[in-house]
Order: sequence, then C-alpha cells, then structure tokens
Amino acid sequence: MAIQHILVADDEESIRWVLSKALKKQGFNVDLAEDGSQAKRLAQKHHYDLAILDIKMPGIQGLDLLKQFRTDYPETLIVIMTAEATMEHAVAAMKNGAYDYLTKPFDLTALDAIILKAEKAAELTGKIDHLKEELQDHYSFGRSIIGNSPPMQDIYKILGRVADSDVTILVTGESGTGKELIARAIHVNSQRLVKPLIALNCAAIPHELLETELFGHERGAFTGATERKIGKFEQADGGTLFLDEIGDMPLELQAKLLRVLQEKEITRTGGNQALRVDVRIVAATNQEITSLVQEKRFREDLYYRLNVVPIKLPALRERRDDIPILADFFLQKSKRDLGIDAMEYSPETLDLFKSYNWPGNVRELENSIKRATLLSPNQVLTPIDFPELLEGKQYPHQDESLEALVAHKLENSLAQMNLQEMDNLYEMVLHQIERPLINIVLQKTHGNQIKTAEILGINRNTLRKKIKILEIEVKRGGR
Ligand SMILES: Nc1ncnc2c1ncn2[C@@H]1O[C@H](COP(=O)(O)OP(=O)(O)OP(=O)(O)O)[C@@H](O)[C@H]1O
Ligand SMILES: [Mg+2]
Repeated sequence: MAIQHILVADDEESIRWVLSKALKKQGFNVDLAEDGSQAKRLAQKHHYDLAILDIKMPGIQGLDLLKQFRTDYPETLIVIMTAEATMEHAVAAMKNGAYDYLTKPFDLTALDAIILKAEKAAELTGKIDHLKEELQDHYSFGRSIIGNSPPMQDIYKILGRVADSDVTILVTGESGTGKELIARAIHVNSQRLVKPLIALNCAAIPHELLETELFGHERGAFTGATERKIGKFEQADGGTLFLDEIGDMPLELQAKLLRVLQEKEITRTGGNQALRVDVRIVAATNQEITSLVQEKRFREDLYYRLNVVPIKLPALRERRDDIPILADFFLQKSKRDLGIDAMEYSPETLDLFKSYNWPGNVRELENSIKRATLLSPNQVLTPIDFPELLEGKQYPHQDESLEALVAHKLENSLAQMNLQEMDNLYEMVLHQIERPLINIVLQKTHGNQIKTAEILGINRNTLRKKIKILEIEVKRGGR
C-alpha cells in the first residue's frame, strides 16, 4: 500500500514542471492539473495516493478543494502548497485534514521528506486495516457459535451475563460439544479481549511438568532449569486463562491452584517473590466432576471455587433442532476451504443426521462433513457418503445391495438434470440398465444369444430386438 499515483495541482507551469520531473524520477506515476476543476475531474477518474495542491488557484479556493478531497477521497493524503508562510494558512490546512504543507519556494528535499513520511503512513494505514480485519475475524468467533435451540439460548444468556465480569466459569459437557469455543467466546466478549487468552490442557502435559507450566520457574530452580520460564498464569496476566481438562489436574497441584485463586498471587518455582496476577479463569472438563469430587479425586473446595458460574453444554442429540443449521454451516465452510461451488445434502442425509446419536457431538458432525465433501465425487451428498454413521442402520452401505447403489447413482444423476424438460425419463434410465446387463451376460456366454436369452429369462426375439434398439455390439466366439 505504498504511494504510487500522485496528483499535482498548481496554476504555475514552472512548479508543475519541477515537481513532475522530480517525482517521476523517483518512479512515481504523476498527473498534473492546472486548476481546481481539472484536479477534481482527474480525481474522479483516478485513485491518488497523494495530492499536492496549491492553495491559491484560479476558480476554486485551495481550502475548498482540500475539504472536497477529504470528503470524497478520504484515503488520499493531501499536501498543501502555499506562497505565504503564515500560521493561519498552515493551521487552516492542517485543521481541514491536510497531511502536511509546503511553503513556496520550497526545496525538493523538503518534499522528499514529506513523501517518505507519507509512505510510512500509508504503510501503517495498510497494517492497521489488516489488524482491524484480524480483530473482526477474532470477534466473529463469538458469532460463529451455531445453534438457536432453547438449550443454546440459555447458554447465550449466561454468556451475556457473565462475559464482562471476572467470575470463574466451569464449562462442562461431553467431548466435542464446544467447550473450547465457549471459553473463547467468553474471552472475546469480555473487557479482556485485547489481552491474551492462554490455554493449558491439563491432560496433555505430564503431571510433573504441569506446575512449572502454570507458574513458571526461576533459572536454576532445578537441574535443567537453565533459563527462567514464565508460566501460563503470568502470560495470561490481564487476560483469560483457559484450563482445559481440569479433571486431570493432580491433587497437590489442585491445592496450589486454589491458593493462587484465593490470593491472586503466584510464585515461580525456585523463586521467593510473590507476583500479583490478574487472570480470569475459565475451566473445562468432559468428566463428571461431581463424581470426581465424591471419589476424592477432585478437591471439593476447588470445585466450588471454580464452579461459580457453571455452563453445561448440551450434547448434540439433546438439541437436534440445531443439526440442520450446523450441517449447513460446516458444509459452507468445507466448500469454501475446498473451493467447491455446488454441493448439497439429499433430504435422506439430513434425516440421517437428525436421527443419528452423535457420541462425538459437534466435532463428529464437523469431521463427517469434512470427510464427505472431500471424498464424494457427487454434488448431492447422500447417506452413502457417510458410511461411518450407518453402522447398524438399514441405510444402504457402500458395498451393499445393487438397488441401493443404483438408487444412489440415480439420485445424483437426476439432481443434475432439468426434470421439467424430460419426457422419456423412464425409457432413458431403463436403457442405461438394460444395456450393461445384456452386455455382461453376452460376454459371459461368448456372444451366444440363445444362452443369453435363457439366462435373462426373456424371449430370444425380444433379446434380438433389444440388441438392435440398444445398439449393442455382439462379439461372437472369443475364448
Ligand atoms: N455451537 C457450535 N457452533 C459451531 N461450531 C461448533 C459448535 N460447537 C462446537 N463446534 C466446533 O466443534 C469442534 C469441537 O469443539 P470444541 O473443541 O470446542 O469441543 P470441546 O467440548 O472442547 O471438546 P473436547 O472435550 O473433546 O475437548 C470445534 O471445531 C468447534 O469449532
Ligand atoms: Mg476441548
């Protein structure tokens, strides 16, 4: 987003000439205008990254031109040229949104300095736009929680109520129900948005390393601690710490965590200084945490400390009404990722989705759809494209009945035809089945039509007619 195209507007020919020559030499694309109205006409036609405008030109007041450019082309940086080095001029120009101003006569080095600065500014604007987009993407995370069913509505209500506070939240729910997604939504919808969201999966890290992961350690705290390590708590300072699979945290560490939550202070392993941390905790587990408490594998006091606001995510089978929109959301996503235009579900597929039990919940649905869109050669996804969901179902399986296979094929072919325009569909389809059938039997009998008719159970004359109509080539003999 650097500066490429520059407009110079001045009624003095010598100025135009000097500027044009200097700027072109530096590789810029330069257009020249003799007065304000020509400048405006040019600006209507081209996009200028920079406009260098004389403030005093016949026809139009320079400041008015500046104002118009600012409203019509807010992205164009404007440098004003003035013959009088008065405060008022400069102030007026800057107030009206000029990027900078030059007093005539000016040194070309002064212009160079301004352009260099403007290039940096343009680059920065580009970066800021990029950051804004990123942030919006990030924000849309909150919006990309799909589902309008009553149980999800309840979740959104809780989210809205607690996001802005600092209360600790315990998210529970079966695997794949969206616990991590909710944790992110809480963070993104809180004041802590601009600060980090740090996640730690307590099940993925060996128990003996968990403590230093959380609290860090000083250099020399133990053999091998050659550097100081900043723990997740410190990394998350000001933000949110997502403690995933909290049910897997060892008991002694649970005691330490409880103390940290109460005192809002941590001490790095091997350190002797308590550090204040301001961290919001969102914890998650797919285990029955109350059973863990009963079995004394999870501290009751920590449980109460974490469970200030519980969010229990429903299993997908408990909100089947959301399945079609989720399925649609993931199909669109897959299509985008794979660059596919047309692909849709057959009604039977949506029925299958709605009746299936989804032990892996939303994740399982998402993965099934990803796999099917990737593997299926067809535009219409039918139950056959989801073999993993069909186990134990009387839906046609990949290598099952011929009828099922034909039905599947047929459904896809028909979906690509304009049925309104057909008038001999029955015959057309039957021909496509008869032809290979007769061909195969003819091959098996080495072209013996009498035998073929016998096997097919049709009259010899009928077979002969069919061979003619279907334009089947009969190869006699062979091996
Ligand atoms: N309501 C939803 N809308 C859109 N996508 C969802 C929703 N719920 C879950 N997902 C998607 O499903 C996948 C699994 O979600 P997530 O990782 O949050 O589940 P989880 O409950 O943390 O699972 P686990 O217990 O196995 O860690 C993710 O790709 C997530 O984006
Ligand atoms: Mg998870």
